[in-house]
Amino acid sequence: MGCQMNEYDSDLIARTLVSEGYVQLKEPQSADLLIVNTCTVRAKPEQKAYSMLGRMSAIKKKRPEIKMAVIGCLAQEKGAGLIKRFPLLDLVMGPRQIDRFKGSLRLLERGGNPIVATDSKGRPPIPPTDASSYFKGRTSGQISIMEGCNNFCSYCIVPYVRGREISRSPDSILEEAVGLVSQDVRDITLLGQNVNSYSWNEGESYGFPRLLKLLSGVKGLLRLRFTTSHPKDLSDELIKCFGELENLCPHIHLPFQAGSNKVLSEMRRRYTREDYLLLIEKLRKVNPFIAITSDVMVGFPGEDDNDFQDTLDLVRSVRFDGLFSFKYSDRKGTLAEKMGKKVSEAEKSSRLEVLQSLQKQITLEKNSQLKDKVVAVLVEGKSKRGDQMSGRTSSNKIVNFNSNNNNINRLVKVKIKSAFVNSLRGELV
Ligand code: 5AD
Ligand code: SF4
Repeated sequence: MGCQMNEYDSDLIARTLVSEGYVQLKEPQSADLLIVNTCTVRAKPEQKAYSMLGRMSAIKKKRPEIKMAVIGCLAQEKGAGLIKRFPLLDLVMGPRQIDRFKGSLRLLERGGNPIVATDSKGRPPIPPTDASSYFKGRTSGQISIMEGCNNFCSYCIVPYVRGREISRSPDSILEEAVGLVSQDVRDITLLGQNVNSYSWNEGESYGFPRLLKLLSGVKGLLRLRFTTSHPKDLSDELIKCFGELENLCPHIHLPFQAGSNKVLSEMRRRYTREDYLLLIEKLRKVNPFIAITSDVMVGFPGEDDNDFQDTLDLVRSVRFDGLFSFKYSDRKGTLAEKMGKKVSEAEKSSRLEVLQSLQKQITLEKNSQLKDKVVAVLVEGKSKRGDQMSGRTSSNKIVNFNSNNNNINRLVKVKIKSAFVNSLRGELV
């Protein structure tokens, strides 16, 4: 569950276990080990995690000899409390502890007591260099370059569960990138809660733009991306990279969260709507076709209708290629949880509906602009429905097309014939 960082962590644990002889199963019913990787960013994923843990507990009840672990951000937040609620759990492990997963499993297999590992001061784990064919068959991969967050936006639980910012060494990141490309991965996304804060000062000094330059030189890497950037740290030097590095994809995910300066200030975002709009202008100056996506929430405490209109207005003026929108959700221990003037659920739902329908129309208009254009598509495999081939443009839009060739992992040219909200359809050129 949760973000790409969680997917990355899941892969990391799976790789270690596969290299030990474990086999991944699609269905949990016959597994010897169940691992639930959880998210707690809003109430919804938290509820989803509880219901998943309930289902896994039912499996373990029938076969008490198996092991059951919960990892990820909810594990970090609730710690031993999860064992109280789900007594069949053997292991509760936070994101900064997962390099201890294998060792903990050994202890459990020898009959040890349940383990809770939630120290959040550890370094992010270094991925194993064994299991070198784990990523074979994937077109795109991810690399965590930094972890944690120091920003403490007033609504957000991430700094409490992912700990303080810490960056990985450029050498180990480069080694991981080369390893992925040698397994035929062609598209790599660099991950971090705030990639712009990437900073390495042992021996040589690296900021994020220098790291990008290093990685863009990896031979055979067709596409390089990154997520997520905080607007307050988006430097001119980084914006310039979009015009300089050939394989850096023309796409940026730049969460704005709210369009009203009053709300932005209460959120402690440390930029104004004017600052944000200026960044968009600078990005489009470097590349007028850069795809811009964002995150936004409605119903932050104290958000009134004028504030919400400011959000709609910002969405109308930026015209995002895609937008992830959420209802504000109280998270325990955050500053916003203690704020007054909470917005009702009904009001949040109605604002979300208005916002999403506006964005749907914009996305469709933006996608329609690609009609009759020829785009480069990196082919990933069969389309969702299975009747066509599917891949993505460098700006991250899904394109489906007919093809009998086996062109997986290759760049092909496709002429766009029709546009939808979530995908495009075209013909091979
Ligand atoms: N309520 C609603 N949305 C949230 N997000 C983070 N914290 C909350 C919260 N308490 C959203 C933000 C962030 C995305 C990952 O999740 O928009 O960018
Ligand atoms: Fe969820 Fe945030 Fe943790 Fe990712 S970092 S899993 S979004 S709480």
